[in-house]
Amino acid sequence: MAVPGATTQEINRAVESFIRSKHAYPTFLHYNNYPASVCVSINDVVIHGIPDEAMIIEEGDLVSIDVGATYDGFVGDCAATFIAGRAANDVDEKLLAVTRQSFYEGIKYARPGYRISDISHAIQEYVEGNGFSVIRDYVGHGVGAVMHEEPEVPNFGQPGHGPRILRGMTLAVEPMVSAGSWHVATLSDGWTVVTQDGSMAAHYENSILITDGEPEILTVPEV
Ligand code: MF3
Ligand code: CO
Repeated sequence: MAVPGATTQEINRAVESFIRSKHAYPTFLHYNNYPASVCVSINDVVIHGIPDEAMIIEEGDLVSIDVGATYDGFVGDCAATFIAGRAANDVDEKLLAVTRQSFYEGIKYARPGYRISDISHAIQEYVEGNGFSVIRDYVGHGVGAVMHEEPEVPNFGQPGHGPRILRGMTLAVEPMVSAGSWHVATLSDGWTVVTQDGSMAAHYENSILITDGEPEILTVPEV
């Protein structure tokens, strides 16, 4: 539904219906008074865009969709960014690809023997190595019986710090990337987070389970 002509509220309704049809609950709804079941964040909106009947998606828009569902007492949290129709330019396409790949670069370290900031560092190195910047003010997190658990999983930092990664941990790893500067601002609605310089932003997130080997991706990584 991330196509020209769709509204962000239509996406919200479709996602909420789907989640409820599976006898799950849309985790975001009423979380800290958030008014919807998804976040839809367009272009320079990094995260927490509130669905709106008046927000019509246009050709070339970068559309980030962030979803949480609670089922049988546990939360899954994931996000991805899509281009509506044809991309406006190559940089937008690269931004999406780099953001997505930075998640995979990070989770190479999501296994016993490493620490949380090893994930953080790998994401930052990959993103900055490709000429983009990582958002600092918002981070990934433990995920489980509630959406936000310890530990925090930043997308930047020196390696070798933070909690040791152990089998059985479940983490939401979620790089948020700006094509320009990483500084962000929150709009007066109290939710919408935008890049201060108006740069395009992208988001990619999955909930993962730490195993003895490669992490298991618990939220389906592709549509
Ligand atoms: N998916 C977001 C996160 O990773 C949470 C959305 S905030 C909410 O933390 F209020 F909308 F739930
Ligand atoms: Co999250």
